[in-house]
Amino acid sequence: MNRSNLKAAAFAAAAAALPCLWQAGATPALAQEPAAKPAAQAAKVERGRYIVSTSGCHDCHTPWIVGPKGPEPDMTRALSGHPESMTLPPPPKADGPWVVTAAATNTAWAGPWGISFTANLTPDPETGLGKWTERNFRETIRSGRHMGRGRPVLPPMPVQVYRNWTDADFEAVYAYLQSIPAIRNRVPEPLPPAAPVAASR
Ligand code: HEC
Repeated sequence: MNRSNLKAAAFAAAAAALPCLWQAGATPALAQEPAAKPAAQAAKVERGRYIVSTSGCHDCHTPWIVGPKGPEPDMTRALSGHPESMTLPPPPKADGPWVVTAAATNTAWAGPWGISFTANLTPDPETGLGKWTERNFRETIRSGRHMGRGRPVLPPMPVQVYRNWTDADFEAVYAYLQSIPAIRNRVPEPLPPAAPVAASR
């Protein structure tokens, strides 16, 4: 091969490589973009599901029933909070070191802070988190105040634990909670410690 043949061969090789580069780089990236986004979202939702399932959210936000294996969260009402249809008598009087009482559903709690009812975390727009942004969710838990500026989030909601989540964790949990079936269930407002008669809602 003489010099000009070499040059021609190099040029041909480069020209042949160009479409490859173009294919390897630009085209697949463009072609994959619509598919990659749902995949990333699905991974986020899956991570959120994992965090929720290992962080006890169902323990308090899904009403418990007595099933064939004993008491367990009723997953047909997953994360829908304290059932609005449930009428409760006043809690027993706190006695000595026994200061906290929980209803059988594990969704209503009486203690020195009064009576609190676990929130509806499903995406129902009126009674759940349907209108919450990811920021509302993150700021509520990070600050321990409703929406980051309202009233304090009452016990036993473990904000002091979940506030240690990373931004990515908050995004994942929020994405998961927005992906679950919406359940309409209006949870009552908490009652102050002095309330003489408890939550019949
Ligand atoms: C030990 C019980 C308990 C556990 C576990 C728990 N929560 Fe709660 N959560 C509560 C109670 C009680 C309330 C209502 C507090 C109030 O009215 O101030 C609440 C309220 C909330 C609120 C609403 C706060 C507001 O200001 O409106 C969000 C959001 C929330 N919880 C998310 C979660 C998530 C997500 C998990 C799991 C990672 C979780 N909770 C686990 C008891 C719990």
